[in-house]
Amino acid sequence: MFGARCLLRALRSCSSAPCPRHRPAARVSVRGALGIQSANGERVKVQGWIRSVRSQKEVLFLHVNDGSSLESLQVVADSSFDSRELAFGSSVEVQGQLVKSPSKKQNVELKAEKIEVVGNCDAKAFPVKYKERHPLEYLRQYPHLRCRTNVLGSVLRVRSEATAAIHSFFKPSSKIKVPEENFFNIPVFLTVSGQLHLEVMSGAFTQVFTFGPTFRAENSQSRRHLAEFYMVEAEISFLESLQDLMQVMENLFKTTAMTVLSNCPKDVELCHKFIAPGQKDRLEHMLKNNFLVISYTEAVEILKQASQNFTFTPEWGADLHTEHEKYLVKHCGDIPVFVINYPLALKPFYMRDNEDGPQHTVAAVDLLVPGVGELFGGSLREERYHFLEQRLARYLDLRRFGSVPHGGFGMGFERYLQCILGIDNIKDVIPFPRFTHSCLL
Ligand code: 4AD
Ligand code: MG
Repeated sequence: MFGARCLLRALRSCSSAPCPRHRPAARVSVRGALGIQSANGERVKVQGWIRSVRSQKEVLFLHVNDGSSLESLQVVADSSFDSRELAFGSSVEVQGQLVKSPSKKQNVELKAEKIEVVGNCDAKAFPVKYKERHPLEYLRQYPHLRCRTNVLGSVLRVRSEATAAIHSFFKPSSKIKVPEENFFNIPVFLTVSGQLHLEVMSGAFTQVFTFGPTFRAENSQSRRHLAEFYMVEAEISFLESLQDLMQVMENLFKTTAMTVLSNCPKDVELCHKFIAPGQKDRLEHMLKNNFLVISYTEAVEILKQASQNFTFTPEWGADLHTEHEKYLVKHCGDIPVFVINYPLALKPFYMRDNEDGPQHTVAAVDLLVPGVGELFGGSLREERYHFLEQRLARYLDLRRFGSVPHGGFGMGFERYLQCILGIDNIKDVIPFPRFTHSCLL
């Protein structure tokens, strides 16, 4: 998207042409137009969808939105333009002059010279209704249309900004992004994690990350599980302690959130105000405090001492369930908490053996966050050949030839968006949710 200043310069550079009315209008986004501080009759063309129509005796006001920002651009037109086709939901192309707005509500407005209806919208049949705040559950039935609403627009702009922020978080320290695979001549399986490929790459490039779709045969309709979700994964060579790994996780969480807050404050505000009241304070609380660290053994002790009755009785050696994760986060004052050193028997083969006992653990780490539960999962990897001898040949090769201590993690991107925006259901932070027994699009 063009910046407002650059756009203004581009528009003004054509202003020496003899007859402004015949100069072709430059296409601008609504966001670009709204960003212009001192509009001075620049001729522009805006394309988008009508969000509101107000017809007065001599003037017609339209609000046009093109998805580039939460705010719409006010179009002011002579009432002679009025027509039944100019209705909520219709797509239009408006040409005219950008002028300073007399109203305090906006800096600029577009004085229309030409309005073309590109596509009509039958308001009766359109599932999104004018001025109605539809519940998220209702909108979920229309994955192809819900992105035209304010709330999904905001969530998806935040998603896009967070994606960019995650890429730039890893970029400056020259971490290499590992591409996802496409198609092969042999039968292959969809990956449930890019980790094993990242481990190969971190054996040459030291610090690597990947960020793409992940598929799980998750037989769960829960508000935090999808069959297809996006995961950010990082793998870091010469990393010897969980402490160092947790520092990267905490930095990734906080840096991305700060970037999103400063680059799309209005979109975040909309979610915090209308979808998740109180989330603004909860997020600030998470960002200003250092994340906490407890061991799995301590976590089980805390759960055993809880006055709450759990469906699954907490016991050393058993997995932590959602109800336990929730309790632990509350117990920690709603500050995200790293739970480290899980029982060896609970975790995958690649996690590093802590060689402790009698309660045998591995150097695993999960980050639990308010409202969502597990957001990150990671570990130090077992880099010692003899600990892995019975396992995969390729994996062992990495330990035979120039093995180094290393570790990595994966963060569920949709759960991250849920956590910062306070969106209760994971299906509302991904454009096309796919989960067990449901693939609408
Ligand atoms: O804990 P998981 O399964 O970890 C791994 O896959 C590691 N191999 C990652 C690594 O170390 N490179 O998944 C990581 C995160 C979880 O903490 C959770 O946030 C998210 O991915 N996640 C899901 N998100 C949505 N729907 C699902 N079905 C998810 N399963 C995991
Ligand atoms: Mg996990």
